[in-house]
Amino acid sequence: MKVAVAGATGLVGQLVAKTLHAQSHEVVPLTRGTGVDLMTGNGLAGRLNGVDAVIDVINISTQRRAVAEEFFTTTTRRLLEAEADCEVRHHVTLSIVGIDLVPLGYYQGKLAQEQALSAGSSQWSLLRATQFYEFAQQSLDFMKLGPVSLVPRMLSQPVAASEVAAMLVGLAVQQPVGRAPDLAGPEPMQMVDLARRVSKVRGIKRRVVPISMPGAAGRAMRDGSLLPQIGGQPATVGSMTVDDWLEQ
Ligand SMILES: NC(=O)c1ccc[n+]([C@@H]2O[C@H](COP(=O)([O-])OP(=O)(O)OC[C@H]3O[C@@H](n4cnc5c(N)ncnc54)[C@H](OP(=O)(O)O)[C@@H]3O)[C@@H](O)[C@H]2O)c1
Repeated sequence: MKVAVAGATGLVGQLVAKTLHAQSHEVVPLTRGTGVDLMTGNGLAGRLNGVDAVIDVINISTQRRAVAEEFFTTTTRRLLEAEADCEVRHHVTLSIVGIDLVPLGYYQGKLAQEQALSAGSSQWSLLRATQFYEFAQQSLDFMKLGPVSLVPRMLSQPVAASEVAAMLVGLAVQQPVGRAPDLAGPEPMQMVDLARRVSKVRGIKRRVVPISMPGAAGRAMRDGSLLPQIGGQPATVGSMTVDDWLEQ
């Protein structure tokens, strides 16, 4: 199959592309670095010719609701329009467990993306996953203050990004299913504990300090709204444990 990957150079996008290559599929990357800006549509014309499916794992780093909504809806609509022009038969989007229960600006953007997807004309599959184990590393880098990293208090059931990538590819090569069962890792944990373990394994000297995010979003992050059994349907549970992942 020929599969276009929006965000093919990102954290999960690279793993999606690797998984597709390993299964002998052809990959068409859609990123600004490879000449396609999905906000403006520049470079998109013709890129989807002969493509069977699109996997959308594009991302923006923002907590501002308006920015996130604009980004995720514009890029989704541009993809869906280009798919209609080129008769692409399947669009697969990655989203996040619990986004309807945690009112963070970024999550509101992801919700708007889901709505744009279901309002479009493409046949689609949607996978909601929990935070990646790799999110702990991202959190360590996100808020650095001299000798400390501030990591939000957050109860999650993280999953390996490689298992998310495998699930997305599995969906793309089959018939569209609409919303697929959510995907989570094998056990719930505090993100701060995971960040401390990652920090130790990677030899990072900065101290990991937990912070409580303010307001309703912060409370929901702490109270388990991001766990699959609360924030979603019964979930598929990945097999890679945090110990396996840290060893890798
Ligand atoms: N992190 C988590 O724990 C987690 C959990 C569940 C789901 N997710 C979802 O997973 C998805 C991927 O996240 P990630 O952390 O893997 O992303 P990432 O590493 O930040 O990568 C983002 C990708 O999007 C591309 N991109 C950004 N703006 C673009 C534009 N205007 N046009 C075309 N391409 C653009 C980037 O390439 P260029 O810069 O070259 O354009 C890059 O390839 C997101 O939708 C996120 O919500 C994340």
